[in-house]
Amino acid sequence: MGYIRITLLATLFVDVAQIALGHPLAPQAADCSRSLLVDAADAYVAAQTAGNASLLERVVANGWEYEENNKRGDAREGVLGKTLKIDHRRTLFDMVACATYTEIIAADPSNPYVIGTQIRHGDDGRVTLIDTIASTTNSWLFDAKKTLGYVLEEKWDPIPEAKRDERSVIRAAGDAYLNMWSNAAAANAVPWGTPCTRLEGSAYTGKGRPDDSCRAGIPSNHSQAPNTRRRYVIDESMGSVSILCVWEHMMMAADSHEFRLEGGKLRYVHTMTECGGRRCTL
Ligand SMILES: *[C@@H]1O[C@H](CO)[C@@H](O)[C@H](O)[C@H]1NC(C)=O
Ligand SMILES: *[C@@H]1O[C@H](CO)[C@@H](O)[C@H](O)[C@H]1NC(C)=O
Repeated sequence: MGYIRITLLATLFVDVAQIALGHPLAPQAADCSRSLLVDAADAYVAAQTAGNASLLERVVANGWEYEENNKRGDAREGVLGKTLKIDHRRTLFDMVACATYTEIIAADPSNPYVIGTQIRHGDDGRVTLIDTIASTTNSWLFDAKKTLGYVLEEKWDPIPEAKRDERSVIRAAGDAYLNMWSNAAAANAVPWGTPCTRLEGSAYTGKGRPDDSCRAGIPSNHSQAPNTRRRYVIDESMGSVSILCVWEHMMMAADSHEFRLEGGKLRYVHTMTECGGRRCTL
């Protein structure tokens, strides 16, 4: 209780101080506020909409890095350099790691993308890394229009404070799920919920039934598929964790998995898998 009060006061103090200084967008201290994360995620979505990485200048640190589909590179030459008509975006906020994850869907058939992007901030609040999985034509089960339709049907409301799961619980659920590829026994550690629906590219396991399950069709016991280089963004208020990784099982693909728990149980899984520009096949 005391801790919560102190945190609240500290947050208020920082906001008031920033307003007083007249620089609400320029953080002065090693502090991570939600407004800071919102501002950077919004700037990123605006830059992606315009296909203009320069629109990030306001929020990025000197020497910030860009990674696309598990490879470091120049943001202007990647998907960020393309104009996208964005139909949907949803952002997770990780106040501990000072990072966000944004899911983007651009269904326009002439330029379709489904993108998962983690943005990491340094001690001064500025963006140090934009780390994105950009799936498009040839990606695993790709059909942006179908994906959009399913996503818009789902309910990802904020979870009431008293019902939130611990950060460690949310992360462990995501890890256990990804561990199943190399170890079938990890399935015992996944807090399977029902209904649970998996949106894998544009393929949906949900049938709208109360016993819908996410367990179906998961390969296991492939020692060569540990799903490595996992990067996490965890948002307790959404019951969600985003994990970007290497998907060894499918052509060493670049992969994004996003999980949502409700009441400790797995409810939604979203995946994006991009195979280095080639057509993904198992
Ligand atoms: C990109 O954004 C910058 C900063 O706002 C602007 O000066 C530039 O003209 C834009 N470039 C294009 C191609 O729109
Ligand atoms: C996976 O390996 C474990 C341990 O070797 C074994 O008990 C289990 O039957 C295997 N499961 C599958 C699905 O092959």
